[in-house]
This record gives sequence, structure tokens and C-alpha cells, in this order.
Amino acid sequence: MIKPDGVERRLSGIVINKLELKGLRLQGIKILIPTEKMAMEHYAEHVGKPFYDGLIKHLTSGPVIAMVWEGSDAIKVVRSIVGKTNPIDASPGTIRGDFGLDMGKNIVHASDSIESAERELGIYFKDNELIHHIYNDKTYFE
Ligand code: RTP
Ligand code: MG
Repeated sequence: MIKPDGVERRLSGIVINKLELKGLRLQGIKILIPTEKMAMEHYAEHVGKPFYDGLIKHLTSGPVIAMVWEGSDAIKVVRSIVGKTNPIDASPGTIRGDFGLDMGKNIVHASDSIESAERELGIYFKDNELIHHIYNDKTYFE
């Protein structure tokens, strides 16, 4: 997901570009303003932490771009392209390393496990909104 700060700063294109050039396939994409209910479901694991309220407030503050990407080891690959949570610690060349300075405005969210990816994509997408690039007799992308 490109968070509100990333959309506002016009970083959506470069985020998509990096993931696409790596070879991942985009299965779903939409722009929306998350409701409080969506944001609370999304970040349920962080309930009670000191940064939780700010996190919910930020996620619901404006448009986000929700995306589903697939490919070999996609969770690990996306997180390595995104970089460490705190942009100050994120390596140059990563999205957060190149474009961020603020932990609360670290441009993107990336799922941290297959289970959380499945749960999170269910918040934002219906099954029929996702493209499967490889069908029985037709391959859209390798
Ligand atoms: P994300 O879920 O957004 O992809 O980030 P992450 O896995 O790298 O980090 P996570 O621990 O899941 O934290 C979620 C988001 O909460 C904010 N945060 N602030 N002030 C703090 O100590 C603190 N810790 C986390 C960040 O915006 C982080 O992306
Ligand atoms: Mg996380």
C-alpha cells in the first residue's frame, strides 16, 4: 500500500515502477480513503502500542493506493525493496531509504507474512477484483 504521505508526495509512480521492474506481477490496484474500521483491521497487531492512534489517524487521513503483487517470495522481495521501518535506518536504494525521513510517514506499507497479506487484501479487495496473470491456456506475463 502507498500510504497517504506517499500519494500526497506523488511517489506512487516510482513505487509501482520499482516493484514492476523487479518482475513482480500486479494483481489488483485501487485508490481509496480507508475508513477507521479498515485501518483498525489493517493494523490490529499494533493495538495498544504508543504509536497506534497516530497510525490509524494517518492511514485514514487521505487517499491510499492499495495493491496486490505476486511473484516468487513476494513478501520478502517487496519488504527488501521497501526498506526498514524507520527511514533513517533504511538503506539507500530502498523506497524508505531514498524518500523518507519520518517513521510515521514512511511512504508504504508492506505485508509481513503470507497470512497477513491474505488478511489485509481481504480488507481492500473482492476476489473478482484480482487478475490472475497465468491461466490454463494463456499467460499474460511470465
Ligand atoms: P508497515 O506495517 O507499515 O509496512 O511497516 P513495518 O512492517 O515496517 O512496521 P510495523 O512494525 O508493522 O509498524 C507499522 C507502522 O507503524 C509506524 N510505527 N511507528 N513510532 C514508532 O515507534 C513506530 N513504530 C512503527 C510506522 O509507520 C510503521 O510503518
Ligand atoms: Mg508491519
